[in-house]
Amino acid sequence: MNDIDTAARDILRRNDRGGYTVPSAGLYPFQWNWDSATVAAAFASFDVARGWRELETLLAGQWRNGMVPHILFHAPAESYFPGPEVWRGTGPAPSSGITQPPLAATMARRLFNADRELGAARLASLFERLDAWHRWFVRERSDDNGAICVTHPWESGRDNAPDWDDALKAVVPGDLGDYERRDLQHVGAAMRPTKYDYDRYLRLARRGAEMRWNEDEMRRDPPFRVADPATTFILLRAQRDLAALGRELGRDTGHIEDSVRVLEAGAETLWNSELGAFDARDVLSGRRANSLSAASFLCWYAGMDRPEMRTRLRETMDAARFALPSLSPRDARFDSLRYWRGPVWPVMNMLAGLGLREAGLGEGETLRETTAALVADGGFAEYYDAASGAPAGGKNFSWTAAVWLAWASPDAEDELWAR
Ligand code: SER
Repeated sequence: MNDIDTAARDILRRNDRGGYTVPSAGLYPFQWNWDSATVAAAFASFDVARGWRELETLLAGQWRNGMVPHILFHAPAESYFPGPEVWRGTGPAPSSGITQPPLAATMARRLFNADRELGAARLASLFERLDAWHRWFVRERSDDNGAICVTHPWESGRDNAPDWDDALKAVVPGDLGDYERRDLQHVGAAMRPTKYDYDRYLRLARRGAEMRWNEDEMRRDPPFRVADPATTFILLRAQRDLAALGRELGRDTGHIEDSVRVLEAGAETLWNSELGAFDARDVLSGRRANSLSAASFLCWYAGMDRPEMRTRLRETMDAARFALPSLSPRDARFDSLRYWRGPVWPVMNMLAGLGLREAGLGEGETLRETTAALVADGGFAEYYDAASGAPAGGKNFSWTAAVWLAWASPDAEDELWAR
């Protein structure tokens, strides 16, 4: 254990609200889905029971249809917009009405590896919930080819990535009345999505709330539906991990293994031969986003490989001052500071890095070293400017502390990722 490990644990303690961890006090004062799953992976090194608790709290918010919300509003907070009164989630706890990339099963596997006896006990009650969530993804979010779609840019976790630019043009904000963004009270506007984006985020949230989040109704004439490489790859990996966990518990996992094959075929359809990379596809228009992003490089994490992706990776890392930028610096839309349009996100580096390591590719270690240096120099920022390496976004950020502990730290226990 090193000094940065100690500081990282301290961040997790300070952001603990009792059974769940907020991503960052002020900016994100509730439980976020993929942030929480990342935090759970970090607890595998020093408080396994608390890691399971994080996932239990998250999955307790599961809706009857299997969906696990992207935000659970456990306690009121004024510092965030849009809150529960906008989303009007219909689950057991106040929540948003969309989900986020399903990291939980993969992070549960790390917890399981840390203590198999405890893991078997805690997983027994979570397995069905994880399985139901993954089934919901396949049922409600597959396109005709088996790739997984997002119905709101926030569902991808990569809110303002250029992947959604074209598709968002079809969303008409209409009359939204006055609304006050609270994010800009915490971080500079140059780091955040624009008002153009927020108008559309809000319209999509209001539409879902008006339809009481009835998936059948929402699917008729949807304004936004984009097949996302990151969500597809993350679900594919999560299904592999869930099947492995299911086998440990002696459960029948045949349907999960079948789903893996369908997801592999779906992921293949995200190949953009012009770009020479995996890419988002607007299901409504059929158009490609032409976006070489950090999402493209999650193929190895999903157990998929392509020689062209190795070439794209080398090109991107050569062009980048700090790998891995969320968008290729060669893309005209690249913005080194603005949220998901260029900055370096430790969580994406971890997922890409784990996949690269498993594929036996040395770039995974370079990603780990770059991430470790960014954190050591700039502290636990939400993300880092891809041109200067400066910390950006929210401060004292839980998932950056978690990525440090679970992967970037020289003392991270790599063997807990063993598959
Ligand atoms: N990341 C979003 C926000 O900025 C919500 O998921 O509020």
